[in-house]
Amino acid sequence: MLSNLTITDFRNIHSAELSPTQNINLLLGDNGSGKTSLLEAIHILGVGRSFRSQQLKNTVNLNADRCVLFARSDDSTPIGMQYDLKTGLQIRLNNAPLVKVSELALNLPLQYISANCHQFFELGPKFRRKLVDWGVFHVEHHFNYHWQSYKKASQQRNSALKHKQSKLDVEAWNNTVINHGEHIANFRHTYLHRLLDAFIPIFTSLCTTFKSSIFTVKYNQGWAKDSSLHEILNNNFERDRMLGYSRTGPHSADWTIKINDADPSEMLSRGQQKLFFLSICIAQIEILLQEKNYRNTILLIDDISSELDWQHQVNVIKFLRDLPVQVFMTSTDKKMTTLMDETDDKVFHVELGEVKDGSLLSQIADT
Ligand SMILES: Nc1ncnc2c1ncn2[C@@H]1O[C@H](COP(=O)(O)OP(=O)(O)O)[C@@H](O)[C@H]1O
Ligand SMILES: [Mg+2]
Repeated sequence: MLSNLTITDFRNIHSAELSPTQNINLLLGDNGSGKTSLLEAIHILGVGRSFRSQQLKNTVNLNADRCVLFARSDDSTPIGMQYDLKTGLQIRLNNAPLVKVSELALNLPLQYISANCHQFFELGPKFRRKLVDWGVFHVEHHFNYHWQSYKKASQQRNSALKHKQSKLDVEAWNNTVINHGEHIANFRHTYLHRLLDAFIPIFTSLCTTFKSSIFTVKYNQGWAKDSSLHEILNNNFERDRMLGYSRTGPHSADWTIKINDADPSEMLSRGQQKLFFLSICIAQIEILLQEKNYRNTILLIDDISSELDWQHQVNVIKFLRDLPVQVFMTSTDKKMTTLMDETDDKVFHVELGEVKDGSLLSQIADT
């Protein structure tokens, strides 16, 4: 959860101060007003990077030399980010420079749902791996350790392959790669089945036409499922040496959920694809709640209204309201305010980079 957000010279927002609610925060405004930028600022505080710019320097307002973001997480831990065009990036967590980006993720578990999230099926395995790994990272305490160890050992092994070192030199890395690689594959396998169980009731209640469909998770762990990683590395040695790297392993895993054994991308409308993706994200939040009693997850939803008809928007919001999740969602549709709860939720009006607290606006209107 996040409170006391202040933003200075970030994109088109010169100065903003927000006290979000722990429930649903609706960011309303016309195109180009700064809504996605607000989500982007929260995303950077949560994971240390933007979802739309590789380089954080692009987030600095065009007329400024640096941007500054500041917020407090639920236990009042201060999180700050500054990007200075001269000195670069500085992130501080609890008043100390950040050592590892993963500390941020643990401090503020956050999921981002983009306006074009229906592209989930087209975005490729890397995107889908990231999605599942987000959940595994939070549920499995040792996942990050295995992933980092696997990555390092694989890099060393690939370097040995690339430099045509002896078979013995390459194989010196095998045990580490195999040990951590198999752990990662097993964690993902267990998590994906857990995800499927949580996903089905959510998706079928948002899309009732699929009430009696059969959902299965298809998981490709990154190598043939009847073989051990040990066998695969041995069998592919000559090919990998020619390539200069190993193509097989958990780094090339992929997964999907099938409906009656068919690919969702081929049978779902764009709106249904969006609901499919939203259901996966909601399922992940439910798993964190059940397994870890996480009550501080943040969900960023850009353009909730796109692709969804009114009744589906109502249903999605009902789902979100039942979860202990802090939501920041954007929309251009003023009608969305009618779905907000007067005491629990908050509306922020974004206008040409200015952010106004909706409750204040109504007070002004009342007087
Ligand atoms: N570094 C920057 N400095 C100033 N303005 C920027 C910068 N980057 C983007 N913008 C502008 O900020 C505005 C808000 O963008 P965005 O947050 O995507 O709007 P919305 O999501 O409300 O449609 C856009 O007009 C965009 O051109
Ligand atoms: Mg936008």
